[in-house]
Amino acid sequence: MRQIAIFASGSGTNFQALVDAFKAGTLKANVRLLVCDQPGAFVIHRAESAGIPAFVFRARDYENKQAFEQEILHQLESAGVDFIVLAGYMRLIGPTLLEGYGGRIVNIHPSLLPAFPGKDAIGQALEAGVKITGVTVHFVDAGMDTGEIIAQEIVRVTTGETRQSLQDKIQHVEHHLYRTTLNHLFLTTGY
Ligand code: GAR
Repeated sequence: MRQIAIFASGSGTNFQALVDAFKAGTLKANVRLLVCDQPGAFVIHRAESAGIPAFVFRARDYENKQAFEQEILHQLESAGVDFIVLAGYMRLIGPTLLEGYGGRIVNIHPSLLPAFPGKDAIGQALEAGVKITGVTVHFVDAGMDTGEIIAQEIVRVTTGETRQSLQDKIQHVEHHLYRTTLNHLFLTTGY
């Protein structure tokens, strides 16, 4: 069974969906740790309520990215983590973590990559006026949302769509796509 850490920076609805599946026995992995870079983030309360240990840090308390990633690496190793799941973690993964967990880090992104990488993918899609957007699960490399694509699902942008309504539809897709994609990876590809 895979031992995963979930990295998040904000509200943590994807964290919650994965933890709920873990508790229900429908995620084929153990959720060992939350890693969070925002001490005020709501996801920390979600972890507390679920009884999942959390490592919370502030980047500015460290000399540089290498220093805080070294500490994260130490926390991951102490928790027995062998796979990293990014769920709204709003930082690029640096060389330290990529060397430690290369090929074993995945991310979810609210667009059909390579369209609309980076911040506010939903806003970018609305601004561009596309009629189809969606969700991508991909492996993480050193770039911004550039790693190999594992799975994608379409979300249609309908007439009168608002930011909130599109975000709700995308998050609904995210919550089941992440779980099913991770299960597929863990069960059938030997990851
Ligand atoms: C999710 O929609 C996720 O796809 C996005 O952040 C949101 C986090 O929501 N990630 C990115 O944009 C990564 N570039 P959540 O905190 O409710 O899970």
